Amino acid sequence: MNIWITKSPAETTEASEHTQLKKNLTAIDLASLGIGAVVGTGIFVATGQGAKLAGPGILLSFIVAAITCGFCALTYAELACMFPVAGSTYSYTYVAFGEVLAWIIGWDLMLQYLVAASAVASGWSSTFMGLLESIGIKVPKALATTPLQGGIIDLPAVIITLLITWILFVGVRESAKINNILVVVKILVILLFVVLGIRHVSLANLHPMMPFGWKGVMAGAAIIFFAYIGFDSISTAAEETKNPKRDVPLGLMLCLGVVILLYVSVAFVLTGVVPYKEIDVGNALPAALGRIGIQWGGALVATGAIIGMISTLLVTLYGQIRIFMVMARDGLLPPAFAKVHPKHKTPHVCTWVTGCVTALVAGIFPISMTIDLCNIGTLFGFLFVSAGVIILRKTRPEVERRFRTPGVPFTPLITIAFCFYLMYSLPTGTWLRFGGWLLAGLIVYFAYGVRHSKLQALRRSAG
Ligand code: ALA
Repeated sequence: MNIWITKSPAETTEASEHTQLKKNLTAIDLASLGIGAVVGTGIFVATGQGAKLAGPGILLSFIVAAITCGFCALTYAELACMFPVAGSTYSYTYVAFGEVLAWIIGWDLMLQYLVAASAVASGWSSTFMGLLESIGIKVPKALATTPLQGGIIDLPAVIITLLITWILFVGVRESAKINNILVVVKILVILLFVVLGIRHVSLANLHPMMPFGWKGVMAGAAIIFFAYIGFDSISTAAEETKNPKRDVPLGLMLCLGVVILLYVSVAFVLTGVVPYKEIDVGNALPAALGRIGIQWGGALVATGAIIGMISTLLVTLYGQIRIFMVMARDGLLPPAFAKVHPKHKTPHVCTWVTGCVTALVAGIFPISMTIDLCNIGTLFGFLFVSAGVIILRKTRPEVERRFRTPGVPFTPLITIAFCFYLMYSLPTGTWLRFGGWLLAGLIVYFAYGVRHSKLQALRRSAG
């Protein structure tokens, strides 16, 4: 057994040529898919959480996180074009670093997708409950609160996750259409918030800008990073794209540009309208409008957020399902995960397993825990993407790159520094949970993956 065994670029793309998935997505579809994944719980719910740590400096936190993501997008796009296959960082790592690290990254990506999806479902649930309350409908709190917060289960989070799983089971085409409508809805409600709030911005609320100094800004950035997670789901859909080499980088840049503009505007208006200490953590945006007497605006933003978060959940779950599918194709997960449904052409077993586990996590764990864990896992994955760009330029110079990251090796090195600084700004408890998760992953690899790996078997029969 050679746990460092690497795939060749040809072996990575070969599987996708035999795939039965439909290839029907364009650059606009991808950008929409990205915005669908990105804009969600982070901006609508976690902004308040971040502002408590950074004060009005959350504005800077958003910028720091955006710069980090911009760099990550540049490195991501190169690898996504080199290997237009489902599987994201997992697939790239298999070529650049070898099987055991690819497995660890695949395992780590569960934090970025599965755990993120459960955090989004939790955010959806709290916003939904806030809206019900505001119109006088009372639901027993214990049924919408996790056991770790003293309740029984977060039932709305469970139900919404299972509903989205069913939509994904039915098929990509239908899901993309629904996603496009939802993307428009959430952009409109964010713009509505900015337009209604901007006249009420008081510069006094923005002073002092950084009550907790640069450390506070970075702690805020480490949380708010969550609001940007998802742009890379574009590259996981590369395999289902008409012309991946052109459409993937284009889709990535378009998505990130729109999102940065929206977020910075929201952060400015929110902290300008409400003194940061008084921001409603669970329901930041609607409550801010309510505070300045625009109740109808608050209700409309909450409704849009609830509808909009659905697309985040949809695309995040979609990314996880495709990653599991590719890992199963490689023999590192049981073969049932790679089975494609004869009618819907979707990996049905994988879809339902992913949906049910996500629903369970959302029902049991509080959002503060899932967001932190998701962020550390995602940043860890991005470290490998950047390192992968540098290494593959040396080890695989012959592979065609329609999109080349500018300024290599400096751009990837700067990306690594940004990612690491954000990871460093997360609490110690998060680091401990993350370490435990990776250790569990290694145990699973040695108990199952390494024995069933198709690449290991291929090399043995060849050698
Ligand atoms: N970026 C996604 C969100 O904010 C995960 O919900």
